[in-house]
Amino acid sequence: MTTTGAKPLGANDEASAAEAVREMFDSIAPRYDLLNHVLSMNVDRLWWWRAARRFRAVLADPDAAVLDICCGTGDMTRALLKRRPQGARPTLAADFARGMLSRGAKKFAARDAGAPYAVPLEADALHLPLRSESLDLIISAFGFRNLANYEAGLREFHRVLKPGGQLGILDFSEPGGLMGKAYAVYFRRVLPAIGRAICGKDGPYKYLPASVGNFPPPAEMLALMRSTGYEQCAWQPYTFGIAGLYTAARTAVA
Ligand SMILES: C[S@@+](CC[C@H](N)C(=O)[O-])C[C@H]1O[C@@H](n2cnc3c(N)ncnc32)[C@H](O)[C@@H]1O
Repeated sequence: MTTTGAKPLGANDEASAAEAVREMFDSIAPRYDLLNHVLSMNVDRLWWWRAARRFRAVLADPDAAVLDICCGTGDMTRALLKRRPQGARPTLAADFARGMLSRGAKKFAARDAGAPYAVPLEADALHLPLRSESLDLIISAFGFRNLANYEAGLREFHRVLKPGGQLGILDFSEPGGLMGKAYAVYFRRVLPAIGRAICGKDGPYKYLPASVGNFPPPAEMLALMRSTGYEQCAWQPYTFGIAGLYTAARTAVA
């Protein structure tokens, strides 16, 4: 297995890769939601909804301890909250880019008494300030691909999950066949041009296709999940495989 992690342009080690990713997301935070919806033609809403639905059983348990890691501006978190019951234990929503997290915090804050809400946590996914074996579910939407070390990320999630706890990783993928060829043109040419027009800079939307190209394909990612202590590892493609949801559980007996 050759995979390590995200490699933003100019970064030459894991620390500088993480810093480049954090700075990039902070810089695009004010435009992030608009860009996301335009570039995905609003299909992103369907993807968050489907990912949350996959974990509806654990989300329906009011005592379940849930973390949305790399929560960004909080849309995945909101999809999770829609499936939490009244009076549920607060969901944790963590990100290391303050500009992204502060926008999310406004969306998922407590509103009415008893209504499900999330607590923002400024934290690095590779060093979570959480007790070992404390969570029932971790979800990451479009964040995992940006980690500086994928294996270290899976191991850190494994540490904080309870035995039997569940993991969901929603991220982009590169579809094959004719669809893949058409999508590659959109992703590598059209998307960076729209991104540049809306947010006025080049880097982030050149980084996006590069980071998807660098992300392990499903077979490799599933092998990495198994080798880091997960079972029931599976990948469900969404929208012709443009995106997909990895699911797994921490092995029940440690
Ligand atoms: C593409 S955004 C996704 C945001 C949100 N989950 C969504 O679906 O729209 C990726 C997020 O991952 C965060 N991120 C990347 N690496 C991280 C790390 N090591 N620790 C915490 N957050 C990280 C970024 O700051 C960014 O907010």
